[in-house]
Amino acid sequence: MSSGQDVIDVAVVGVGRMGRHHARTYKKIAGARLVAVVDADAERAGAVADEYGCESFGTVDEMLAKFPDVRAVSVAVPTAYHLRAATPLLSRGIACLVEKPMAPTVAEAKALADEATRHGAILQIGHTERFNPAVRAVVGMNIRPRFMEVHRVSTMTFRSLDVGVVMDMMIHDLDIVLTLAGSPLARVDAAGVAVLGEHEDVANARLVFQNGCVANLTASRLALKTERKLRVFSEDAYVSLDYQKRNGVVIHRAANSDALDEVRRQLESGEDLSSLDYSRLVSVEELNMAAAPGEAEDWRNDPLTAELTSFIDAVRRGVTPEVDAQAGFAAVDAAERVVAAIRAHRWEGLEKARV
Ligand SMILES: NC(=O)c1ccc[n+]([C@@H]2O[C@H](COP(=O)([O-])OP(=O)(O)OC[C@H]3O[C@@H](n4cnc5c(N)ncnc54)[C@H](O)[C@@H]3O)[C@@H](O)[C@H]2O)c1
Repeated sequence: MSSGQDVIDVAVVGVGRMGRHHARTYKKIAGARLVAVVDADAERAGAVADEYGCESFGTVDEMLAKFPDVRAVSVAVPTAYHLRAATPLLSRGIACLVEKPMAPTVAEAKALADEATRHGAILQIGHTERFNPAVRAVVGMNIRPRFMEVHRVSTMTFRSLDVGVVMDMMIHDLDIVLTLAGSPLARVDAAGVAVLGEHEDVANARLVFQNGCVANLTASRLALKTERKLRVFSEDAYVSLDYQKRNGVVIHRAANSDALDEVRRQLESGEDLSSLDYSRLVSVEELNMAAAPGEAEDWRNDPLTAELTSFIDAVRRGVTPEVDAQAGFAAVDAAERVVAAIRAHRWEGLEKARV
């Protein structure tokens, strides 16, 4: 970012678990000035405002009365209130970054997208994993996946129980596999189990895309460990990434063609290769996570900083954000289809499926 850029006044609506991270992060983004936080809980809003040196309000309208020139707002209220909280902002043309999932239903996601379009307002959706450097490295490889395997499991935090694990956790991976598949969704099959309440706590989905690509996703919030992994299989390469560690490995087919030709030759001549260690035969490379031209090296380790920097940059330049309303809508649509498939799934021997 060059010096002399205009400073963009920003605010955060909803400063609970996630929103306070937005407030903290805006404070360190050059070219953004955090002027206000809004929360229905006045004490919470006041405490966050004191910590980050800005003003606090109980409603968006009160905030706008004092700061009518605010240009960019993060909306991090519970998903059920995204539409209600963002509408007065979008209707004034103010850019919004709405946390993920965009909305609890496709109908509300569409209403949100339509409101932004009607008023020419920038709307970004908070799919933070898109800014994970390991994910960016895989997306940058431009591979054409044949199939993908995703595991996102964690121990129970007793948070976000008002929605199921598909809308809360799997939605991150739905956005990523939709991005990597690069093709519309054709079919969804899924199964899930609700243990603690009426919503699924564990889910497995198989997505088939129109170009034939398949994604198999598992999400659980009742696991005994935490694991967030994506494996991508294509004609040209195999990639494995760890969302949490923000690293990964890749095996390029072309780089191993001599070794694979030799194995093929030995197999054809009937040699016994059972003592051969395949993992030592192929060359396994670390994912290349060097910053792309124009990307700052320092925020590559912090996806939220990268996400908010990208948002502020889109606002400054008046361009479509990297994770736009269409992407947010597609993820909610896919999640709704997964939940519908779970409900439609038939269990032999059970009178009624639990979800
Ligand atoms: N990107 C991510 O990785 C990530 C992680 C966690 C949560 N989230 C998303 O962030 C959003 C918030 O989740 P959370 O866990 O921070 O929730 P939370 O309950 O911890 O915080 C929500 C805050 O919003 C306030 N609030 C509620 N309704 C309001 C309204 N109408 N006006 C103003 N304030 C209001 C509440 O008082 C609370 O302080 C959800 O959409 C969630 O899915 C995203």
